[in-house]
Amino acid sequence: MTFIQNALAGRVALITGGGSGIGLGIAKAFAGAGGRLVLASRDLDKLEGAVSELRDMGAEALAVRADVRNFEEVEAAVRSALDAFGSLDIVIANAAGNFIVPAAQMSPNAWKVVIDIDLNGTFHCARASYEALKASRFGGRFIAISTTRALEGWPGCAHAGAAKAGIMSLVRTLAGEWGPDGIRCNTIAPGAIGDTEGAKRLYEDRGEASHQLAQIPLGQFGKTDDIAKAAIYLCSEAGDYITGADLVVDGGRERGHSGVGAPKVMARDRGRA
Ligand code: COA
Repeated sequence: MTFIQNALAGRVALITGGGSGIGLGIAKAFAGAGGRLVLASRDLDKLEGAVSELRDMGAEALAVRADVRNFEEVEAAVRSALDAFGSLDIVIANAAGNFIVPAAQMSPNAWKVVIDIDLNGTFHCARASYEALKASRFGGRFIAISTTRALEGWPGCAHAGAAKAGIMSLVRTLAGEWGPDGIRCNTIAPGAIGDTEGAKRLYEDRGEASHQLAQIPLGQFGKTDDIAKAAIYLCSEAGDYITGADLVVDGGRERGHSGVGAPKVMARDRGRA
């Protein structure tokens, strides 16, 4: 695809939670767009597998063990990127934890652990990468993954919903503070992305898949590649004038589902690959 080919040539990206799911999808798409990759997460074995897939695609890639809850480990991951590639142009704060438990039964520690991974982890990524992003010759990019559920309440996931709402506020603040340094800061809000562990647990395992699907005007679950293309848009020259935005990629679930027009749209687009 012309838009994507070489869109990230010369750029170095650090992706947390890059060993699986949306993070790995973004990593593969970035590799296809000419980017160089540093993947960071708690699970080095998983990362090594992902990195070898990226190298098979012809990309330069590196795996670094880092728990985003630990600021020093995130700082070390940023240093590894700079040591290996000489610059860091893009950070994708994607690592997240989530599980379904009603607030009335949620232990304080369960609350804390998700806030710590999602919200504190995102701040750690931003704080640790600021100087490197400021020095980027392309204009740094900081992207965090939010969710369309963040601002509407998320029954069963109070911790993750609150963390993601906090992430959206944080990133908008960073857009204001770091714009003068040329750093573009945005969130991407995925809807129901079918090919992820999260979707399996949130929808399939609970028999919710067909109910969820009925709420998506485009008539199908998203794919990790749909999120990856949005990330390429924001992180390439195409996104030069975009900062402080929340790019919703949800097939119309949040804002387009009327319950009246939706079935017509679903029938029309059901054949989309
Ligand atoms: N239901 C209720 N409480 C849960 C839970 C669940 N499914 N999973 C974890 N908790 C609670 C634990 O009981 C613990 O609280 P306690 O000390 O009061 O008992 C607290 O959350 C921390 O859990 P723990 O497993 O010790 O934390 P961790 O740091 O090892 O892992 C996660 C945290 C979120 C990464 C882990 O729960 C997990 O692997 N989740 C699934 C993977 C995932 O979230 N992927 C991302 C999808 S968006």
